[in-house]
Amino acid sequence: MPAPNSPRGSRPLRLASLCVALLALVAACGPQNPPNAGQPTPQAGSMARMLADVDCLHAYGRGDATQPEAEAASSELASWSSRMAELFPPEEAARLYVDMTPDMAREAPAAMMATIGPLSAAVRSGNRAKVAAAVDQTEQQGCGACHRQSYR
Ligand code: HEC
Repeated sequence: MPAPNSPRGSRPLRLASLCVALLALVAACGPQNPPNAGQPTPQAGSMARMLADVDCLHAYGRGDATQPEAEAASSELASWSSRMAELFPPEEAARLYVDMTPDMAREAPAAMMATIGPLSAAVRSGNRAKVAAAVDQTEQQGCGACHRQSYR
């Protein structure tokens, strides 16, 4: 029997993570994965939540989410971002994920974190235009450090 939850980005796992991402999208600023989300790896789960958080912050920038929702999303995003190095150890990540080089995995966590301070400050300020600009930065410089292609 193959291990049901291999960390490799196998097809069923990727499908499962896509479903989680889509469900999270439907839930807009919702708090958590649904209970039957196919038990994604922590890596895939972190990505689904980060995408939901980023989308919530875009919604806030457009005036479609509340201040408490934006604050919850930015603090969740900050906490997942701070775990990138632990979730994607450079050598292992480069071996597991064809699109990633060791350098990308080494540099991405700091690139990600560099955008989180300004984003959190923008959310605390309640200035929606600043949040819209800051979350764009997070996606381009932070997420973009690993994702050279769109994940949407
Ligand atoms: C340290 C590198 C890294 C960073 C930074 C990163 N990702 Fe990912 N992301 C990955 C890897 C690797 C996968 C594939 C995970 C898997 O298959 O289990 C992935 C998968 C995803 C997926 C699932 C869809 C797909 O293409 O497989 C989404 C959505 C996603 N990431 C969004 C984000 C968002 C949004 C951010 C920024 C907030 C982000 N990622 C930052 C490495 C990263």
